[in-house]
Amino acid sequence: MTAAARVQRSFRRGFATYDDSALVQKAIARGLIRRLLRHAADARLTRVFETGYGTGQLTRLMLQRLPIETLHLNDLAAPPLPFAPQADYRPGDIETLALPPDLDLVISASMIQWIADPQGLIKRLCEAVRPGGWLALSGFGPDHFPELQTLGSQAAAPSLLSAAAMANLLPSGWTLQESGSRTRSLCFATPREVLRHLRDTGVNGRASRPWTRRDLDAFCHEYNARFGQSGRVPLTYQPAWLIARKA
Ligand SMILES: C[S@@+](CC[C@H](N)C(=O)[O-])C[C@H]1O[C@@H](n2cnc3c(N)ncnc32)[C@H](O)[C@@H]1O
Repeated sequence: MTAAARVQRSFRRGFATYDDSALVQKAIARGLIRRLLRHAADARLTRVFETGYGTGQLTRLMLQRLPIETLHLNDLAAPPLPFAPQADYRPGDIETLALPPDLDLVISASMIQWIADPQGLIKRLCEAVRPGGWLALSGFGPDHFPELQTLGSQAAAPSLLSAAAMANLLPSGWTLQESGSRTRSLCFATPREVLRHLRDTGVNGRASRPWTRRDLDAFCHEYNARFGQSGRVPLTYQPAWLIARKA
């Protein structure tokens, strides 16, 4: 099975539990809309393309806050959203999907880290935006899930980009309005709960083989030994975002 197919299967499995578990992604979606509106409050944002809509956490906020007339939605694995029946659904891998032209806004939250060639994707997304239009993008930085990185996990998303690295991928003619990153830790009772959280949010799709009982015990032991504090263990997210405008 290819890496893309594993990512797709993993997100499909996680959708039923995603909204209850993806607390950080929910906050990221809220932050992205808030930041976009800080810069583009008076902008014409009627033709919008979102990639990686998942369960629609960001989509729902956009429909509440933006004057959208045409909404194009793309995802590799998600079914249509019951609350957005009017949207133009364009399923498939965004890396090979034809994009609609003359967009007022391209937006994506918590997805670009899964893309093998983020530079190529950002270039294509930017080309689809009309002059004066906007890009709002949020992914995860190089220090995302440091606990898993320390334990040598091979399952990390392939493109963990800092805010500066993402901004460097903007083509000429684009102005960066804002970029930034932060860290946010969730606490769990046990390392197994961490693994359950990863599964419930669909982000363990790069794991290339099932674990044996021995793998699992070793992982839990090491996680507790290195990161356990007062009977709890952390998992640390590093969201990174940018808001940019085309000249
Ligand atoms: C972590 S979810 C984020 C969902 C939503 N944007 C949010 O903020 O909650 C990532 C989504 O990106 C989608 N995705 C991953 N790789 C993709 C690709 N190559 N093309 C399109 N969608 C992709 C997954 O199917 C999943 O729904």
